[in-house]
Amino acid sequence: MKICVLPGDGIGPEITAEAVRVLKALDLKMEMEEGLLGGCAIDAAKDPFPEATQKLAKEADAVLLGAVGGPQWDNNPRELRPERGLLRIRKDLGLFANLRPAILYPELANASTLKPEVVAGLDILIVRELTGDIYFGQPRGIEVRNGERFGFNTMHYTESEIRRILRVAFEAARKRNKKVCSVDKMNVLECTQLWRDVANEVAKEYPDVELTHMLVDNAAMQLVKAPKQFDVMVTGNMFGDILSDEASMLTGSIGMLPSASLDENNKGLYEPSHGSAPDIAGKGVANPLATILSAAMMLRYTFNQEAAAQRIEGAVKKVLAQGFRTGDIYEPGMRKVGTKEMGDAVLAAL
Ligand code: IPM
Ligand code: MG
Repeated sequence: MKICVLPGDGIGPEITAEAVRVLKALDLKMEMEEGLLGGCAIDAAKDPFPEATQKLAKEADAVLLGAVGGPQWDNNPRELRPERGLLRIRKDLGLFANLRPAILYPELANASTLKPEVVAGLDILIVRELTGDIYFGQPRGIEVRNGERFGFNTMHYTESEIRRILRVAFEAARKRNKKVCSVDKMNVLECTQLWRDVANEVAKEYPDVELTHMLVDNAAMQLVKAPKQFDVMVTGNMFGDILSDEASMLTGSIGMLPSASLDENNKGLYEPSHGSAPDIAGKGVANPLATILSAAMMLRYTFNQEAAAQRIEGAVKKVLAQGFRTGDIYEPGMRKVGTKEMGDAVLAAL
């Protein structure tokens, strides 16, 4: 198992350090090598995704990523922004399938801003297409036209891009509650009319799975109104970006949510769903659980080590039951701990 570790910026190094400790405690044969991605890479190599990192990532079976970004790079030109590194590594490795589970742990039911009866038992999987759509579409830019500035981007999908991400969603649903909700904006956008047409075609290959369609604005509303109606939601890159942040908040803390981005052969990049949180970076208070749970997803999807994945997930459930809480999920009466102590607790529970 060859793992490329990219701690990144902000709280990235702190949280990946804990995930690496957990992986190493499993007694599996692993090789890990660290590289630079994001702002730290811009500072060191004037490139958010430098060649050395490209090579490391290509040679590895899986990538474990912390987070990228920070205010010090916000005014850089687009090519020299940390996010560009993230978008390039996704595209370069062909990581088209982004899996973002949103699970509410019963111990954290009070952390949600929604009523407990609305979110209790919540278990949604968002499948977001990650290498197409308006994120990568050409032409794009800001130009002067007719004497004024003109900004433009292009939304597009080929039917093969749509088909392969729909298949990922249907396969995932087969292992869950056998329901797929495909989200589009077909009442306005042709590109997503094609999305819906292809979704209906792919559904014929999966007669055991129920397919429904929802317009993205309604989906945003339904997610806060009655989120438990969903099992697997599948959508394009931009809608998935927005809806997955919304879904994460149903669970109370984005600090708990892992993610996997996979290519056609289950090579993957694993990262917490949250960002680099520059405001708390270096303070040792960040929640490392999303990154630790991302390492569990890595074992499951890339390395087929289901038992080891469940061991990590079980350990996380145990530390929550024991009352360990970082600041983001803290409630009075619980045991407030920092990043490293949370890692210690998970190791002890393992
Ligand atoms: C995410 C992030 C990224 C995205 C940014 C940092 C480029 O918001 O992973 O959801 O928009 O995809
Ligand atoms: Mg996002």
